Amino acid sequence: MNAEGRTKLNQTPEWTALAKHKEQLGEVRLRELFDADPARGTGYTLRVGDLHIDYSKHLVTDETLALLRDLAVATDVFGLRDAMFRGERINTTEDRAVLHTALRAAPDAVVEVDGDDAGNVVPGVHAVLDKMSAFADKIRSGEWTGHTGKRIKNVVNVGIGGSDLGPAMAYEALRSFTDRDLTVRFVSNVDGADLHEAIRDLDAAETLFVIASKTFTTIETITNATSARNWLLTQLQADESAVAKHFVALSTNTEKVADFGIDTANMFEFWDWVGGRYSYDSAIGLALMIAIGPDRFREMLDGFRLVDEHFRTAPAEENAPLLLGLLGVWYGNFHDAQSHAVLPYSHYLSKFTAYLQQLDMESNGKSVDRDGERVQWQTGPVVWGTPGTNGQHAYYQLIHQGTKLIPADFIGFAKPVDDLRPGLVAQHDLLMANFFAQTQALAFGKTPDEVRAEGVPDELVPHKTFQGNHPTTTILATELTPSVLGQLIALYEHKVFVQGAVWNIDSFDQWGVELGKVLAKRVEPALTEGADVPGLDASTTALVAKYRELRGR
Ligand code: F6P
Repeated sequence: MNAEGRTKLNQTPEWTALAKHKEQLGEVRLRELFDADPARGTGYTLRVGDLHIDYSKHLVTDETLALLRDLAVATDVFGLRDAMFRGERINTTEDRAVLHTALRAAPDAVVEVDGDDAGNVVPGVHAVLDKMSAFADKIRSGEWTGHTGKRIKNVVNVGIGGSDLGPAMAYEALRSFTDRDLTVRFVSNVDGADLHEAIRDLDAAETLFVIASKTFTTIETITNATSARNWLLTQLQADESAVAKHFVALSTNTEKVADFGIDTANMFEFWDWVGGRYSYDSAIGLALMIAIGPDRFREMLDGFRLVDEHFRTAPAEENAPLLLGLLGVWYGNFHDAQSHAVLPYSHYLSKFTAYLQQLDMESNGKSVDRDGERVQWQTGPVVWGTPGTNGQHAYYQLIHQGTKLIPADFIGFAKPVDDLRPGLVAQHDLLMANFFAQTQALAFGKTPDEVRAEGVPDELVPHKTFQGNHPTTTILATELTPSVLGQLIALYEHKVFVQGAVWNIDSFDQWGVELGKVLAKRVEPALTEGADVPGLDASTTALVAKYRELRGR
């Protein structure tokens, strides 16, 4: 029980009922579940917008799902959901509303931030979208020219975390919708190699830098932006006046943008009620919008909105983010699963899982609950994965035959993208054959009898046996369009929300990243000047000395 008299999660009757149910189910076999219910393959599915979601290959029965929904009721997941959509300050440790859903609200929607006199935020959202659209059109049409009058052909987004991963992921995902005459690159790492490789072959006169930072204080971004500005001015042999034509800012911090020397007329605003990892459909998506055009960007927002509406209104039994969130709770809390694999069978989604890592792990990587007390249950999983089929020839061995339970999401598309060269289209069926084969093998495995029946010698039978029973969700859509991408991202955003609500943690702060930032600032003078850093531990002191020696200082 906490100070307000709320029962702790693991002391609720719903939690206990799930623990007991897990015991009773014992080693439930997917083979048996499918034998017992021939309709399971169609019955355990959901449709959300363009997404067909199959959850039949999970270690659950109707009773499991009902008990999980009971837990969602007990933890008031839908109450917190409604508070989020209403603009309440549910990010309590930062005293902020959580309103990324307002970024894709219809123009006539009304969303107000609790305790804020500014009123409806939606007109402001659409004003920024319009400003972004006008700017993107100017770049795409060539109307906007650089300092020397040349057309902009290169766009370099400089940002990190949520100011990089979202637009970089979506740019890759929607490459076939991009203007192929534009070169779009993303620079995030404070390692100068990142910026160097991004700009080394570019003509500065044709290059636009989009400096993306919610706070405009992030050291990596400000350092890279400063180096980019120096490079540009040197290349153009121009004075500061050139900056206005080659630098725009995406931020909530007007003052810092002005301090940096970017004309605030070239700043695209967003708000403190948008978390960094929930921000790529805000102004942070400008580089993406330039690449795909404003219409496609708005189609993507429509996709987000469709799933927002689904999450807000669908009953628990049909609510996809709720279901996916609860399945994660089932494995993390009742099966001791430590990680969750996301395996897209689309090369265009090569950065999808990296994006989800921040979304999920920065949101739910917490060990203190909303009451400030240490949680006594597992919270967010390690999220990992890369596109199929590559992973099949690398780490799938461990998923199939290792000792760990790794629930996985398989995401695939019925059609290849439109502009794939005709000769390559046929490869799509082979890709998808692998997609279906993997979830089948993971679920049903291969018994020793089946192996023996193939004439395998006895001593090899254990090695060639597949236990199966590895749970997967299959998400299938017709094709990867901007709208479908928006739907997928909103699905995962709300899934993460559901889990944070069940675990009673604040999914919207990220205090855990602060200590490293502070220590890096303290250590830097020791590297550069050999300065004494008071309180530095013995291991780090020795490592710093070794670094200086190897660096020749
Ligand atoms: O350090 C973590 C973090 O604050 C993320 O949450 C955020 O997405 C990233 O840094 C970048 O922050 P900003 O957009 O303010 O530069």
